[in-house]
Amino acid sequence: MVIQYGNPLLSHDEVGILLNSAGLAPSMHNTQPWRFEITGQVIDVLLDPDRTLPAEDPSGRMTRIGLGAAALNVRVAAAMLRYETTLAIDPDPDRPDIAVRIFLGSRMRTTVSPLGTLYGELRRRRTYRGPLLAAEVSSMVLEQISAAARAEGADLRWLGADAKHELRRILHTAEDLELHDEDRLTERGRWVGGRRFGDGVPASALGPLPTHPTLVRDLSAGFGDPDRDAAVFEADPQIAVLTTAVDDQVDWTRAGLALQHALLTATTYDIAASFLNQAVEYAPLRARVQDLVGHSARPQVIIRAGYPEHAATDTPRLDWHETLDAWQ
Ligand SMILES: Cc1cc2nc3c(=O)[nH]c(=O)nc-3n(C[C@H](O)[C@H](O)[C@H](O)COP(=O)(O)O)c2cc1C
Repeated sequence: MVIQYGNPLLSHDEVGILLNSAGLAPSMHNTQPWRFEITGQVIDVLLDPDRTLPAEDPSGRMTRIGLGAAALNVRVAAAMLRYETTLAIDPDPDRPDIAVRIFLGSRMRTTVSPLGTLYGELRRRRTYRGPLLAAEVSSMVLEQISAAARAEGADLRWLGADAKHELRRILHTAEDLELHDEDRLTERGRWVGGRRFGDGVPASALGPLPTHPTLVRDLSAGFGDPDRDAAVFEADPQIAVLTTAVDDQVDWTRAGLALQHALLTATTYDIAASFLNQAVEYAPLRARVQDLVGHSARPQVIIRAGYPEHAATDTPRLDWHETLDAWQ
């Protein structure tokens, strides 16, 4: 039997746990494009217009995916605190800046729900850009990771050999395009490389340079670092494309929820992931990725996954107080 504690308003400690957790979400170039407003037990996840990527993400797809990932983390932390949650994407036409509204319900005197058990993975999950071990990931584990994405209304499809071969060609074209795009490279230089405090991707998180062409994205495109190590990378990583049914702002956010649920689930199996999103950042190339996964599926994110050879490096985060706009 489920016994309810009643409906107390959130304490300062609880807000700290919820927003700290949100801030651990992945976001493109670690921009952390989120802000929060809390009204009673309603938490709004808002877009921070000062933390977007106009050159690399002009549509806002990747930014919305980051907001969805942050919202999933709030739900995980709330579930760990034994709150029931419900969620609405783009809940208020008069407030288009609110991407997700999370309603915290009653606190339950039950064991922690399956979502809450992922709380311990929030800090363990890290984008890992280093080489993967040759060890095979079992189909059962791959299916568990896909099931986590499905729970949020998206699909995560693992690619077979032919699709991976074609993806290599698409990625090659994408890398060529981005190396010749001054606006993108300038913007990237503002967020990636060197030492970073609070946000951005430090050089230490870029991982080693592959000694041979491989399926890993080198975020340092355009600026070299003579101190960077080189390493032999795996020949055949697991690659998955996260897709949604529709290609609109709501489904971009949904993709973020699904991505983070899948990544946290992968972390429970000690599986690490990095991103190959350059292939979905250009419309003509995204259409080619869509051909790989079926015409009704809209590609949002591509991940490379497996057992890491080394530990991933931390990236910095903003203090949660800096992301809280209003609390009443
Ligand atoms: C929507 C989205 C797109 C991303 N794209 C890339 C990418 O193309 N290449 C990459 O190396 N990392 C990518 N990342 C990973 C971010 O750089 C990473 O999440 C961020 O630096 C924070 O680090 P962490 O994931 O280790 O916490 C992406 C993350 C998100 C959520």
